Amino acid sequence: MKISVKVPATTANIGPGFDSLGMALPLYNTITIEETVLPGTGIEINVLNNTASAGDFIMEHIPMDENSIIYKAVELLYNSIGQSPSELKITVHSEIPIARGLGSSASVIVGGLLAANELLGKPADEVALLSIATEVEGHPDNVTPAIVGGLVLSSQEDDGRIIYTKLDWPDEWDITVCVPDYELSTDISRSVLPAEIPMADAVFNAKRMGMFVQAVNTKDAELMKLALQDRLHQPYRMKLVPGLDKIIENLKHEENVLGCVLSGAGPSILIISQKNNLDKIKSIVKDTWESLNVKANIMTLPVEKQGAQIITQE
Ligand code: HSE
Repeated sequence: MKISVKVPATTANIGPGFDSLGMALPLYNTITIEETVLPGTGIEINVLNNTASAGDFIMEHIPMDENSIIYKAVELLYNSIGQSPSELKITVHSEIPIARGLGSSASVIVGGLLAANELLGKPADEVALLSIATEVEGHPDNVTPAIVGGLVLSSQEDDGRIIYTKLDWPDEWDITVCVPDYELSTDISRSVLPAEIPMADAVFNAKRMGMFVQAVNTKDAELMKLALQDRLHQPYRMKLVPGLDKIIENLKHEENVLGCVLSGAGPSILIISQKNNLDKIKSIVKDTWESLNVKANIMTLPVEKQGAQIITQE
């Protein structure tokens, strides 16, 4: 039996929603799990990158052994029903740029889990899949939209359960994803965050989260401009993302721009704007990064409303 799952990219945090807001985007990894016929062949993981869609980005850092995050996710699922995985061939066809803050690790975790769950006859429901995926990834903001699609606010509760609620992204707001040619691992990007933050910064973000939800629900652009700010992670990560401060500064006077935020742990940047003057916004980003010798792939993308899908089954 062979199962393939197509999983969308995701952007997380989206300004004030550190570790809680996330959104699926229409770039995809396809994860295939095949039961191999020869006993004793163990687990084989292959990663093939789709350079035609991913520009010059090459996916080369997913460990292909049993330490792989895909393997960990698959193993946790098997263990949850008292089994261990063996004789599996796992292949990742990758279109999502890696180590760019676009959820490539969440996509392979989710793809591996869903494919293995199908192979096993669906022992895990959505609640169980969300919990296992979050256990491997460490936070729910990428894996939840990768599984359920759309713009999602998610939280891991004290009992380990993930609760989530979907929000409708206003069609009149464009999402422009700016992907630089340099990488930043999530581990490094999380290592610069403080263990504690000042109360005033917590209050600042709590207010912005409320504003974000209300702005999205009422399509209030002026409120969204206030909402798309953060004091929990972006200030600390600024030094790891050359050009972010200059891009924010250079876009400050563009009235169609509602916000310019890090995508996940970075280094990609997300620009939210009203449908107008996209070319100008893109050229400001491109020129700013070029002045620092950074090449970029800049894409305006709709929200992917569908989460991971089983695409083939034989
Ligand atoms: N919320 C996470 C972070 C997303 O900012 O570190 C990255 O996976």
